[in-house]
Amino acid sequence: MIDKHGRKINYMRISLTERCNLRCRYCMPEDGIVKKSHDDMLTEDEVINAVKAASSLGITKIRYTGGEPLIKKNIVNICERTSEIDGIEEICITTNGIMLPTLAKPLREAGVSRLNLSLDSLNEEKYSYITRTGKLSGFMDGFHAALDAGFEKIKINAVLIGGFNDDEIESLAELTMKYPVDMRFIEMMPMYDSGDFDENAFISYKKVLEVLPQLSPVEKDGGVAKLYRLPGALGNIGLISPISAHFCFDCNRIRLTADGKVKPCLHSDDEYSLKGLDLDGMTEVLKEAIWHKPSWHGELDAKHRSKAGRNMNQIGG
Ligand code: GTP
Ligand code: 5AD
Ligand code: SF4
Repeated sequence: MIDKHGRKINYMRISLTERCNLRCRYCMPEDGIVKKSHDDMLTEDEVINAVKAASSLGITKIRYTGGEPLIKKNIVNICERTSEIDGIEEICITTNGIMLPTLAKPLREAGVSRLNLSLDSLNEEKYSYITRTGKLSGFMDGFHAALDAGFEKIKINAVLIGGFNDDEIESLAELTMKYPVDMRFIEMMPMYDSGDFDENAFISYKKVLEVLPQLSPVEKDGGVAKLYRLPGALGNIGLISPISAHFCFDCNRIRLTADGKVKPCLHSDDEYSLKGLDLDGMTEVLKEAIWHKPSWHGELDAKHRSKAGRNMNQIGG
């Protein structure tokens, strides 16, 4: 469907849970989250109906996010049912990778097309610091399980954090020399409560170009990242710049939260509820939400924080 600003909307990001098995400092409060009542969350059947409704309006790509989507006990079933829906061409998941040693293969068999994995540091201590509870070896096991299961075009996401991982841009980028994966650097977005980080932690994507002058530009793949490549690399370097060069005017996506709210824009508090509706009801609400998608999110920087009204784990990135 086309929104009122003429953008074709064909991508829906669905957060399946606000919970996570890690506690990344820019994403979640340390003590986890205020647990919402189970009855407020979408059921598996409601998620599937939402995908059906969305596909009837022209959505062809679904990305499951969280929190951490792989802690949902029914994740394989949800993916399998999604793959059977007419019009859905791509099912993707964004995950921290920790559960992949057991889930990579079943997810592949269930029809998942692509995985994006979050990794902010290659140093064991720093990885444990940023995730508060994670182990780098846990990530690595998951990453290798994803490669072994035959997933192609895996993308690794690192949020750029000044004073934390700006000294690791080269080593993270080196992953593309060794593995057939894209390495993407993301500017940190100032969310409702992005914990320990002040404005000095923000690093522009341009820093990556300074550190890696040998990068040469390559054509975009339809995603939001500007793409580059190191000489002789097996994958691309992607730069995602929501702060210094936003991409709202090309935006093709809407979001659905685990508690059933359609968010036409990541940084707006406009929300439209699907909870408790049947297929026709969901289709009508989705139509309304897509049509009214804001043209852009307004100023976004340390002084103008996100107006999403939620933390990242409650939206799904
Ligand atoms: P591909 O399908 O591989 O292109 O993935 P993706 O980039 O759409 O998804 P992913 O979950 O890997 O998100 C990467 C980063 O981009 C995360 O930090 C997201 O928060 C951010 N992001 C995704 N969509 C949007 C958007 O519409 N606006 C903004 N500002 N950031 C976004
Ligand atoms: N700014 C930018 N990216 C973020 N992510 C989580 N919180 C933020 C933030 N405040 C990233 C995660 C994950 C993706 C879904 O969003 O690292 O890779
Ligand atoms: Fe969990 Fe991802 Fe948030 Fe980290 S960024 S706490 S892995 S949802």
